[in-house]
Amino acid sequence: MQIHILTLFPQMFSSLLGSSIFKRAIDRGLVEINIRNIRDHTHDKHHTVDDSPYGGGAGMVLKPEPIFEAVEAVKAGISGSHVDNAVPVILLTPQGRLFSQQIALELSKYSHLILICGHYEGIDERVSEQLATDEVSIGDYVLSGGELAAMVVAEAIIRLVPGVLGSEDSALNDSYATGLLEYPQYTRPPVFRGWAVPEVLLSGNHAQIARWQREQAIIRTLERRPDLLDKANLNPEERQLAGKTRQ
Ligand code: 6GU
Repeated sequence: MQIHILTLFPQMFSSLLGSSIFKRAIDRGLVEINIRNIRDHTHDKHHTVDDSPYGGGAGMVLKPEPIFEAVEAVKAGISGSHVDNAVPVILLTPQGRLFSQQIALELSKYSHLILICGHYEGIDERVSEQLATDEVSIGDYVLSGGELAAMVVAEAIIRLVPGVLGSEDSALNDSYATGLLEYPQYTRPPVFRGWAVPEVLLSGNHAQIARWQREQAIIRTLERRPDLLDKANLNPEERQLAGKTRQ
């Protein structure tokens, strides 16, 4: 999979790509991340990327031309088998649809993705209307630019690419993949500063441990994110435990 990130701040991505899961995915040849500077697609002496808004008002608005040209340059570099409009062009903006594990899973199936990092002051609406195929926000708060959001989206996607994670099923048990928050985890020592690990985990009884973990995941989801329980796949007994007896 290739993820093309269009940004005015390419240097923000350098440490990210050199470490952690990004480095592993890239080193294994499973993922390519191409960072492209939108400013390289300007033609004037001052490399102008923004201008004042029509109708007045504070702040500047990103001009459409460099962004369109950057996307077109990326598409021109994608080899023929991928039809032009089959490559998602995703604008990162607080006005987009709320990013989720489900969207990450959808996007992880494409061979190419183009992510455009917008800026909060604004981006010419023609980018959204005529160029982007999708608009994504990572939450209900404001960031100055889409760069951090692009990193969040890219990481959530690449860890779903087969072979990127250590073991194939480690993404399947993740919070949100099961519809439940994860159960609590412990490691040695069995007693730390007087706080003991739950007895059942030391029992060696794997069926009992699995039941406890499932119960804990449900209780935790009920306490912290009851909104997730509606979508979770619970059997009738588990629904009762969750205090949700309907259906
Ligand atoms: Cl995608 N961009 C910006 N600038 N702010 C955000 C966001 C994106 N998602 C949440 N806040």
